Amino acid sequence: MLEWSGALCELDGVCRNPRRQGVIFERPRPAGGNQRGCGEQPGVAADTSRTATPMSRYSEYVGADQILDLGFVVSADAAGASAKADELHFKRIHMESELSLAQVLTDMHCAVDFLKPQTDVQKARFHLDRTAGIIKGMEAKLNLLRPPYFTQERFEEFRDLLAPASGAQSASFARVRHFLGLEGTESPIYKQFINAVAGHGTSIPVVLRSPASPLYEVAHALLGVATAYESWAWSHYQNMRLVVGEKKEGTAGTLGADFLKGRMVAPFPELWSAIGVKKGV
Ligand code: HEM
Repeated sequence: MLEWSGALCELDGVCRNPRRQGVIFERPRPAGGNQRGCGEQPGVAADTSRTATPMSRYSEYVGADQILDLGFVVSADAAGASAKADELHFKRIHMESELSLAQVLTDMHCAVDFLKPQTDVQKARFHLDRTAGIIKGMEAKLNLLRPPYFTQERFEEFRDLLAPASGAQSASFARVRHFLGLEGTESPIYKQFINAVAGHGTSIPVVLRSPASPLYEVAHALLGVATAYESWAWSHYQNMRLVVGEKKEGTAGTLGADFLKGRMVAPFPELWSAIGVKKGV
């Protein structure tokens, strides 16, 4: 059973919280399910015979028409143009974040692959750096969902219409947390990193202090990813406080700000303790 202070949801996906009785709670798909590897696109079967395909139309390449077709709002027409623009802003930032999370997953897959023995740790470092950069970009976008760009009064115009929908149902986010070892399972990235450290006959504290080590930049790139994740989570918590309030429930029925505060856990705790920090916060 999934227990989130405000919301009690069984594994069948139905919440038994008295306030939301019977509500279908779309649970994240299992962290390991439907995953694709480095450079693969979910939903597109691998075709090794494929040759380079030139594109003539930008909109076809980026799917602009399909993306824009999804720009519907739940607000009623009576809400007015400015209120509908607020909702579009809120929704588009979530849509952009989903695309960013998909790229984060692609890059984290690549990092795992390139940390395997006899591969290319420089490439692993590159994909980890990009992961951190994309998460920082997500945080910058998140910060557009607070004053002066988005306010509590404006959010109140449509927030109740969203429940029980919530970012907490993002399957890609659950997969990212799985890669970071935050879903109660071992981090696949960290596991490959430890294997690589052992393969080089060294230890994590030595690697972290040896710029000449081939794994030095990888170790610091992992800390960069962890820091970017924590920083996003901190901003997310602040958003809740700023545009909803400290003591209000989230749309999924959690304790809101308190729930998000509890989710601020540092990925890769062993790396942090190796540099003398007990937690990454
Ligand atoms: C004003 C902006 C936002 C507020 C007030 C907010 C609020 C919340 C709250 C209260 C929760 C806890 C679950 C619940 O009860 O609903 C949550 C979860 C979540 N939200 Fe947001 N959110 C905002 C923007 C975003 C954005 C832009 C994203 C983009 C990815 C996002 C992604 C998530 C994710 C992934 C979770 C699950 C977090 C976890 O499990 O640690 N949120 N949000």
